[in-house]
Amino acid sequence: MSSSGTVARRKAPLVVAVTSGKGGVGKTNLCVNLGVEFVNHGKRTLIIDGDLGLANVDILFNIRPKFNFSHLISGEKTIEEVITNGPGGIRILPAASGISAMADLKPEEQSQVVAQLETLSDKYDIILIDTAAGISSHVLYFASAASYIIIIATPEPTSLADAYAIIKVLNRQYAVKRFQLVVNQAASEQNALSVYQTLCDIADNFIEVAIDFLGFMPRDEKVHEAVNSQVPFVEKFPSSGASRELKKIAAELLKKRDQVPDNLFLWNRLAE
Ligand SMILES: Nc1ncnc2c1ncn2[C@@H]1O[C@H](COP(=O)(O)OP(=O)(O)OP(=O)(O)O)[C@@H](O)[C@H]1O
Ligand SMILES: [Mg+2]
Repeated sequence: MSSSGTVARRKAPLVVAVTSGKGGVGKTNLCVNLGVEFVNHGKRTLIIDGDLGLANVDILFNIRPKFNFSHLISGEKTIEEVITNGPGGIRILPAASGISAMADLKPEEQSQVVAQLETLSDKYDIILIDTAAGISSHVLYFASAASYIIIIATPEPTSLADAYAIIKVLNRQYAVKRFQLVVNQAASEQNALSVYQTLCDIADNFIEVAIDFLGFMPRDEKVHEAVNSQVPFVEKFPSSGASRELKKIAAELLKKRDQVPDNLFLWNRLAE
């Protein structure tokens, strides 16, 4: 991807984080498949695996990266050296697996990461950040770095409660006011919309945030099959129900990408 060159001004990348509170609701699958879809649209796309101690993005792409976030933090490698190629030209900043110390970045490590991330601004059109489950400080840190925060939830009450919890924490601690909801494993679009309505009702009662309905994905056995074969479902089963809806979500985000202003200082919230 030799994309630098003579273009005078490029838009800053659209930075999208995917988070959920609850584990196992589909964050990594959403990130990976959105990434594939963006690359198919000719967008220079980076996925940051923000699940620092339990890397999963590389598994879904069936790649074995040489270096990962731990080498970046230790200063052994630069961000360019750690970022690796995935299928179709997608770029991946892999996480470490089984290193518990990675699960919490110290403040000085966070600022080191910010400095490295800033160097990426003109190299990508879209940066997707997959976060870990939970509401630990590094999950909040990655989520608050993004210009768009996708909250993913399933129709289960536990998932909704956790989605609300992370919205509340991001609002209180990082003053995030706008969220995008994706309902995964929905029985139907109506089901997804009623989940959205429930979440809005809960949030309206307690905090001042705006939640947009970005889209949904149906419960679809093909997702499970694709995970087992380590090929993103949008590639392996492009006409499945999950793929159809995922493409709509990707199209919405591509529209938002067009609205990103020039010269936006990307990681400003983190730098403060
Ligand atoms: N739409 C779907 N239909 C059917 N199964 C799904 C769907 N979405 C996710 N799954 C199942 O849920 C599993 C967990 O998905 P994924 O790894 O993306 O979740 P996660 O939120 O990233 O989990 P973690 O919190 O552990 O990082 C998948 O391996 C798949 O089997
Ligand atoms: Mg995951």
